Amino acid sequence: MILVTCTTGKTGQAITRALVSSGKQVKAMVRKVKSAQTAREMGAADVIMADLANKDEVLNAMEGVSAVYYVAPNMDPNERLNGENIISACQSENINHLVFHSVLHTQIEALPHHWERHFVEQSIINSGIPFSILQVGSYMQNMLPMWEKMLESGIHRMAYDTEAPMSLVDLEDVAEVAVKIIDNSNFFNGIFEIAGPSITLLEKAKILTSILGRKIIAEKQPLAQFLEHGKAIGLSKYTLSMMSKMFPYYDKHGLVGSDKVLEWILGRRPTTFDEFVRRIAAS
Ligand SMILES: NC(=O)c1ccc[n+]([C@@H]2O[C@H](COP(=O)([O-])OP(=O)(O)OC[C@H]3O[C@@H](n4cnc5c(N)ncnc54)[C@H](OP(=O)(O)O)[C@@H]3O)[C@@H](O)[C@H]2O)c1
Repeated sequence: MILVTCTTGKTGQAITRALVSSGKQVKAMVRKVKSAQTAREMGAADVIMADLANKDEVLNAMEGVSAVYYVAPNMDPNERLNGENIISACQSENINHLVFHSVLHTQIEALPHHWERHFVEQSIINSGIPFSILQVGSYMQNMLPMWEKMLESGIHRMAYDTEAPMSLVDLEDVAEVAVKIIDNSNFFNGIFEIAGPSITLLEKAKILTSILGRKIIAEKQPLAQFLEHGKAIGLSKYTLSMMSKMFPYYDKHGLVGSDKVLEWILGRRPTTFDEFVRRIAAS
C-alpha cells in the first residue's frame, strides 16, 4: 500500500488518481473529515486522518504502508518539521521507498520556500531510506482557477514579467512519472528534474489566442495589487511573504529547468502548453 500525503490538494489528487488508475493501492493522508470523503471518491483503499506537523499521527499513518509519496503542504512554515516527521516515521517502519515531491531548483536561497526544501532533501538523502526526489516545475494547471476570468477579460494576468521564461509542466505528466517510479528500484536514490518546455506569458497569450480563437493579451499584475488580493482572500502572512519574494525573483530570472529528464522518464516528449490548451478547450 502506498501512502500519499496532502491527498486532496491539487497535486495529491492528480497523483492519487493516477496511482489508483494504474491499479496501485493508495492510503490517503488527510486532515479533514470532508477530505476523507473526497479521498474515498478518488478510489483510495484506506484513509487516515493526520497532520504532518504531528509526529505521532504521521507515525500512526504508516501502518500497512510499504512506500510513501510525500507531497508537502505548499509554502508551510513547518516545512522542515513536516519533513522530519515523515522521514523518522519511514525509518521506524522500514519503508521500502520514499518519493519526495519537491520543487525545481531547491538551491535558490532567494526563494525561501525552495530553499527550505533543500534541507528536507538533505535529510532524506542522509536518512538511509531508498528515496527518489522529484524537483517539479510550476504546473500549467495553475492558470485554471483564472480560466473563466481570462476568457471574459481577454487578459492572461500573472504577477511576474511577461517575458520571464518558465518551464511549465503538465501535472498529468507529473502523475504519469509518479506511477512509473513508485516502488521501482531503477529510480532509487536519484534526484530528477521534472520540468516542461520553457515558455513566457507573452508566448502563452499567443498560443491561447490562436487556439481559443479570440484575442488574449499577457499582462503583469503589480505585486502590491496581487498581495492585497491575496490578503483579502485569506492567504496566510507566511504565504504572502513567500510570494512577495517569489515574483520579483521570477521577474529577474524566470524559473527554467531542462525538460530532458522528464522526456526520458515518460519515453515521449513532455506535453507542450499548446497541447495542454487544446485539451482544456476540448473538455
Ligand atoms: N502548484 C505548483 O505549481 C507546484 C509545482 C511543483 C511542486 N509543487 C508542490 O506540490 C505541493 C502541493 O502543492 P499544491 O499546489 O498541490 O497545494 P494545495 O492544492 O494547496 O494542497 C495542499 C494540501 O496540503 C494539505 N495540508 C496542508 N497542511 C497540512 C498539514 N499540516 N498536514 C497534512 N496536510 C496538510 C491540505 O489539506 P487541507 O485541505 O486539509 O488543508 C491540501 O490537501 C507543494 O509542496 C508544492 O511546493 C507545486
